[in-house]
Amino acid sequence: MRKRSITLMSVVIALVLCCILIGCGEKAKSSVKTGIIGAMDEEVDTLKQELENVKVTDIGWMEFYEGNLDGEEVVIVKCGIGKVNAGACAQVLITSFGVDRIINTGVAGSLDASIDIGDFVVSIDAVQHDFDLTAIGNQKGELDGIGSVSLPADETMMANAVSAIRECAPEVNVFEGRVCTGDQFISSDEQKRNITSEFGGLCCEMEGGAIAQICYQNNVPFVIIRAISDKADGSATVDYPTFEKEAAARCASIVHYMVTNK
Ligand code: ADE
Repeated sequence: MRKRSITLMSVVIALVLCCILIGCGEKAKSSVKTGIIGAMDEEVDTLKQELENVKVTDIGWMEFYEGNLDGEEVVIVKCGIGKVNAGACAQVLITSFGVDRIINTGVAGSLDASIDIGDFVVSIDAVQHDFDLTAIGNQKGELDGIGSVSLPADETMMANAVSAIRECAPEVNVFEGRVCTGDQFISSDEQKRNITSEFGGLCCEMEGGAIAQICYQNNVPFVIIRAISDKADGSATVDYPTFEKEAAARCASIVHYMVTNK
């Protein structure tokens, strides 16, 4: 009789342990909630289509798509072009959706002769090249209240992004470096020279630095992943519409891989 109750107790303990382990497993799969921001439809549409258990919430001009990518919790959103749209969007993701980290994906212009259309840039840091308080003694790009030009990306997210690109697009080059953000589409050698002489930088775009600032101010890790659509010079206005869609689609598959293969 005593032996039978010990056996029964062992079975119950084993069952409880199994439940705890399975429960923990599920929790680990979705314990990180990732916000994914693109500026344009092309940059987020593919990811939205891959989403399961979707819930859409309208806030302001934006639609936030909450759901699962292969079991991982994500919130995908198109913010619209430019720093104001991007910064506001990042703050909503943090405040209203409680995301733990943010990925900004999309296209960019190359600032470096060795970086070609189709290549990728992963942010080491971001700067806002058009932020200018030099008239009152600040360095160009130095952000008020932060006291720094550079907004550093999260190292683990950077490493994950680079691995995802190498895995999903082994035929293209991936560069790690500075992303330069401003409210201008860069399309001349002069604009390009002005940015690189002041900040260095590998690519220019119009949202990453604003998202980086909001993440910095909220202590939320971020990374910017950009596919090059043009050379940010006189050819940019022709190359951009030609290569933008393909580059944006490639970003989507990389972000999906990155989120689901941490
Ligand atoms: N996004 C893609 N190409 C760009 C460019 N040349 N300038 C700013 N943002 C861009």
